[in-house]
Amino acid sequence: TTGLFTYDPGFVSTASCSSTITFIDGDEGVLKYRGHDIADLAENNSFTAVIYLLLYGELPSSEQHKKFLLKIQESSKVSEQVTNVIKAFPKTAHPMSILVACFANLSASYHETHGNNVNGEDLDFGISAIAQVPAIVAMIYRHINNQEFTNANNKLSYSENFLNMIFGSAVNNTLFVKALDKIFTLHADHEQNASTAAVRLVGSAGSNLFASLSAGVATLWGPAHGGANEAVINMLKEIEQSGDVDRFIEKAKDDKDPFKLMGFGHRVYKNYDPRALILKDACHEILSKLEQNNELLEIAKKLEEIALKDEYFITRKLYPNVDFYSGIIMNAIGIPSSMFTPIFALARTTGWVAQWYEMVNDKETKICRPRQLYLGK
Ligand code: SDX
Repeated sequence: TTGLFTYDPGFVSTASCSSTITFIDGDEGVLKYRGHDIADLAENNSFTAVIYLLLYGELPSSEQHKKFLLKIQESSKVSEQVTNVIKAFPKTAHPMSILVACFANLSASYHETHGNNVNGEDLDFGISAIAQVPAIVAMIYRHINNQEFTNANNKLSYSENFLNMIFGSAVNNTLFVKALDKIFTLHADHEQNASTAAVRLVGSAGSNLFASLSAGVATLWGPAHGGANEAVINMLKEIEQSGDVDRFIEKAKDDKDPFKLMGFGHRVYKNYDPRALILKDACHEILSKLEQNNELLEIAKKLEEIALKDEYFITRKLYPNVDFYSGIIMNAIGIPSSMFTPIFALARTTGWVAQWYEMVNDKETKICRPRQLYLGK
């Protein structure tokens, strides 16, 4: 049941819980949200319709979608307290450290009015987190870049509004908006990854939603997890400079060298991450329409081509994951790499919220309490 850890003979501890939200088949490279295939959702649905699906279990009718958009707009205002938290950080702070603090501040406000009463019935708290996070991430970006905050424009869609708040003016570029909607959808949930497991673990102790989200952000920040997208683009730019792809491949294979090929490998996928396939095509689409030089895309494709023929990667079933191509698209849109992981967190807030409510409302939930393999005397 939810939150229990079990040991398998290989002494690899796996957190296991029951869920109806996301399904992954790591061997076949399959990902489904509430039974809907990710490729179909990314191609044919807005991100707000996918948020609705993850929260309520079904895709919305147009009437339900309209009402839901209104609800998101009504709960998107960021409090003065959170604004002051952002302003209190030095401009040199990593945006993920500021986002951790923003959710922590929201947990204080929740606790002031609700104490330790964790409320699994009222989805409004979760919707308010999902509604506020684009503005919070945009404010963090503008704070560290010494720019005035931009007001939300609720006439725009969720993704368009985010771009408007980041860049400070309406980005009337449907190509960018569609690409960002797709990126949000592909990053929204992913079963029991490290950050979602952290959200469930913290929530299973009775901590409120916002405190659990703060733990999720802190976990996603790590370069082995959500921080990989920023590391991928830095790696591609390094390869572009050095012009020597093979050296990076050899470094990644050298077990004496801690360097890993960023954006490659996965705890679950031992096949191509379906999200990477969708993002690879989206890269093509956006770069060719922008007639932008796709040097980084060419390097990524060359890296992939060499790695997928290399014994080391083949025997270890290492394939591109969601982070391998996402940064190239965000780079093309003009988003700096320091914001890639906060954007991942923005999208994953939906999955964390859905999973937290599922856990809190599961009568079987017990506090998550991993055991250890004692190797001492
Ligand atoms: C995300 O869990 C999720 O669902 C996460 C995520 C989500 O949506 O929430 O999908 C998002 O976090 C994607 C992963 C992003 N991280 C990276 O791209 C960083 C680079 N990748 C690696 O750090 C690594 O692949 C991990 C952390 C993702 C997985 O590491 P594991 O569990 O150690 O991988 P493994 O057990 O499959 O490794 C088997 C072997 C080991 O070598 P040997 O000991 O057998 O000699 O493969 C090696 C590893 O060292 N290996 C790599 C490698 N990844 C694994 N070698 C070189 N480059 C790599 N990228």
